[in-house]
Amino acid sequence: MSIANKNILLGITGGIAAYKTPDLVRKLTALGANVRVVITASAAEFVSTLSLQAVSGNPVHHHLLDPAAEAAMGHIELAKWADVLLIAPATANTLAKLAHGIADDLLSTLYLATTADIYVAPAMNQQMWKAPATQNNLHMLKEHGVKMIGPAEGEQACGDVGAGRMVEPVDIASLLNEQHALTRHNDPTHNTLAGKRITITAGPTREPLDPVRYISNHSSGKMGFAIAQAAALAGAEVTLVAGPVSLNTPEGCKRINVTTADDMLAACQSVATSTDIFISTAAVADYKASAVANNKIKKTGEELTLTFIKNPDILATISARDDRPFCVGFAAESQNVEAYARSKLEKKNLDMIAANDITTEGLGFNSDQNALHVIWSDGEKRLPATSKSELATQLLSLIAERYSTALPS
Ligand code: C5P
Repeated sequence: MSIANKNILLGITGGIAAYKTPDLVRKLTALGANVRVVITASAAEFVSTLSLQAVSGNPVHHHLLDPAAEAAMGHIELAKWADVLLIAPATANTLAKLAHGIADDLLSTLYLATTADIYVAPAMNQQMWKAPATQNNLHMLKEHGVKMIGPAEGEQACGDVGAGRMVEPVDIASLLNEQHALTRHNDPTHNTLAGKRITITAGPTREPLDPVRYISNHSSGKMGFAIAQAAALAGAEVTLVAGPVSLNTPEGCKRINVTTADDMLAACQSVATSTDIFISTAAVADYKASAVANNKIKKTGEELTLTFIKNPDILATISARDDRPFCVGFAAESQNVEAYARSKLEKKNLDMIAANDITTEGLGFNSDQNALHVIWSDGEKRLPATSKSELATQLLSLIAERYSTALPS
């Protein structure tokens, strides 16, 4: 999957981050994409059209009503040319116009006229990003099939700190390269998952023994984070409930950090009523210490005996709710993989389970690759070994298929 030889129409709107767009064009062309640039009047205040023309190798498009430009490549032709319309940076004003179908300049007209995949990288002041009007517009755009890239958090040009920075050009380019062909807005996964609220648990839990020690496991959280990324790109509103892992939050996902299984359960319960699909990839510790010592446990005898009690089963608790979401579990097994997975599907009252054999060298725990055997009540599918990000997309498309079949008609 890549953007090599794809036609990318880059729409630049008037935010300070526009100064980074010549670099963005370079990053996209370096990956083999053909890039044409459309620039709004206010964006032209922030970045030189001459630079953009030089790096893209194509004239920059400005005006809707320009006879010379229309004669060379008219706006409808340009809309048809594009495989991808990427708007970066996208201002609050542009998001508002797109959400409401206002077509008063070349870029907003192209937005309505194209059937290309549409990606938007918002950039604005953190307070403008949080404003209810902006958030409503975003929600509408996601429902229309637009995929959001970011925004990133951090220090802003105005001195504020918060969400609203444009994702860096190198990250926009690699994200498009990885995901473009996987998340086309006219594909069934996107149509089903756009605007759906998906909660994903990921990583290990950590159960304290005393103020300095804990028990945990080797889960890296990579599978859950890859699913979160793919779900966000498919237009879903993603909440990632993450145990202690050292992974960056995928763009566009809300993250709740937790430590213990009890914390993870509380976080999941707090969002359960507003969850349509619950995907449980976390390697939850099965047991916790019956009592956490107040002081460091001293090295006294040759042996140490601790008592453990069972942790709550988060997935089973969520799936037992009256307002249960569509529930997907994981089963990491070292033997009798299919039989154990089938029994968990039934016992935990799940809609689907994704099983993997943790004894296969180079796959599963702590690795970048995995293979899954996905099972549901009247079907199954084997997803052969591949990268976790590719697998996440394949799994989501199966989930989307089953989820839409399970919906009451
Ligand atoms: O540990 P087990 O094999 O039963 O896990 C199967 C599924 O249940 C996984 O999806 C895991 O995330 C979930 N689970 C859970 N809470 C637990 C144990 C497992 O949510 N305490």
